Amino acid sequence: MKETNITNKTLIDKLENEHSLSHDEWFLLLDSFTDEDRLYTAEKARAIADKIYGKDVFIRGIVEFSNICKQDCYYCGLRCGNAKLERYRLSEEDILNCCEDGYKYGFRTFVLQSGEDPFYDTEMICRIVTRLKKDYPDCAVTLSIGEKSYEDYEAFRKAGADRYLLRHETANEEHYGKLHPATMSWKNRMRCLDDLKALGYQTGCGIMIGSPGQTTECIVDDMLYMQEFKPEMIGLGPFLPHSDTPFKDEPKGSYEMTLFLISLCRLMLPNVLLPATTALGTIKPNGREQGILAGANVIMPNLSPVKVRDKYMLYDNKICTGDTSSECRGCIEKRMEFIGYNVVISRGDHKS
Ligand code: 5AD
Ligand code: FES
Repeated sequence: MKETNITNKTLIDKLENEHSLSHDEWFLLLDSFTDEDRLYTAEKARAIADKIYGKDVFIRGIVEFSNICKQDCYYCGLRCGNAKLERYRLSEEDILNCCEDGYKYGFRTFVLQSGEDPFYDTEMICRIVTRLKKDYPDCAVTLSIGEKSYEDYEAFRKAGADRYLLRHETANEEHYGKLHPATMSWKNRMRCLDDLKALGYQTGCGIMIGSPGQTTECIVDDMLYMQEFKPEMIGLGPFLPHSDTPFKDEPKGSYEMTLFLISLCRLMLPNVLLPATTALGTIKPNGREQGILAGANVIMPNLSPVKVRDKYMLYDNKICTGDTSSECRGCIEKRMEFIGYNVVISRGDHKS
């Protein structure tokens, strides 16, 4: 049978059974999918997630500890070129206090996230990680602090960091060049992800859906990259413009495409940890619930102090900036219960 005669359903079934597609198959599917294909995929994806993780949804508490960034990514509100943003740094004590609160609310994973802020040197990050692992031996520590050297990643790992989130943003080098200034390199991004995997981190990559210049071919490259790299976690969210960036007039990404890609990632990597992201909850009020129903199994509410929340603005209208950690915790629990899922108090490791 010629490739043009293969229906999308056949491709989706093939992905479910074989966990991979060829370049041309990915292209065909991503280029021509209908709402019906998307719902068909979501149903399969949810069934797989239910089989592996049951009705459990894992929560991670994110501490956004600094919005200072030396990088200048064109899409991000924290870019160093954004002079309008009021900058902040949390002290080590502040960070530990957020985690202490988080532990009380049932979080067993702490995600420390920041811009690329050199103020927090290797020693300081290691000290915080060591302290958290000592005070909360039953918790996982995830870092999300950007591009570092192999030696730094190794030091964090030795200090006890379990996981690392670094979205690759795009697996297409040319597209990478459209999203970032020439001072940043796609090859280094990829090197970082390889280093993290080699060091034994549960490693997370991911993309924004609909980022400026993204074509179907770019998403094909992303799927092929992830098919090969086998990340333990994948962060997917729609691109949302930020008014003080060069991309302020660019259209937002597609909500439906984001949900479709979540489902496809579940079929491709059945055990993967997939968050229903804050960006998905920003583009649609019940986006995170729909993300879970499309095959996601993680939610990452904010644990940052309310006084800094509205300053960690990656994009316009980010949700939860006025809510306390306890409010977000309660809100997520209710939202999950409403769709028949339970927030669990657990580290929520990747099942490998
Ligand atoms: N819209 C959506 N997601 C964004 N991110 C950064 N800026 C935006 C934006 N404008 C995502 C990037 C980054 C993660 C922390 O947030 O993918 O890796
Ligand atoms: Fe923050 Fe709902 S998760 S208010």
